[in-house]
Amino acid sequence: MAADKVKIPMLASGGFGDGRGLVAALSLGAEGVNMGTRFCATKEAPIHENVKAKYVENDERGTNLIFRKFHNTARVGKNEVSDEVVRLSANPDAVFEDIRHLVAGAAGREVLESGDLSKGIFWAGMVQGLIHDIPTCQELIDRIIADAEAIVKNRFGAMLA
Ligand SMILES: Cc1cc2nc3c(=O)[nH]c(=O)nc-3n(C[C@H](O)[C@H](O)[C@H](O)COP(=O)(O)O)c2cc1C
Repeated sequence: MAADKVKIPMLASGGFGDGRGLVAALSLGAEGVNMGTRFCATKEAPIHENVKAKYVENDERGTNLIFRKFHNTARVGKNEVSDEVVRLSANPDAVFEDIRHLVAGAAGREVLESGDLSKGIFWAGMVQGLIHDIPTCQELIDRIIADAEAIVKNRFGAMLA
């Protein structure tokens, strides 16, 4: 629908990590994809190895939706801290102050720097289900482009033939 309405180039965002996703986004009318979580699980990402390993270990169910009650929904990695945020937020009388200490940016920074996942929340999408390694950015992009080209050439090419 956005492709019908929007006159400027669009990047699709959320859930992308491989060539199939890129081709799907191009089919829907985007010019390309934006990848958040997938780029965090690369050699160059300036975050602790433990966090990168967690993206590989987690599957698509390894997330929690938080802040919905506060009209600012965010999807973050599932850990004991985000589980606790969900638990506290389920209280009908919950206010942001109840969870502030758990979701503080400083705590999230500590997770990324120390690799101690029990210290706070960290961003992670359902695309974790597609993350199985920690390549360099060059390797990742080369792979995505090669896979996308193979789909267009072989799968779509065969359909046209
Ligand atoms: C390191 C990082 C920081 C992020 N920061 C924010 C943020 O400040 N606000 C927000 O709404 N989403 C944030 N996100 C979520 C991104 O909007 C989301 O990851 C993006 O849609 C790409 O989706 P993907 O992670 O499935 O590729 C962040 C994601 C990552 C990986």
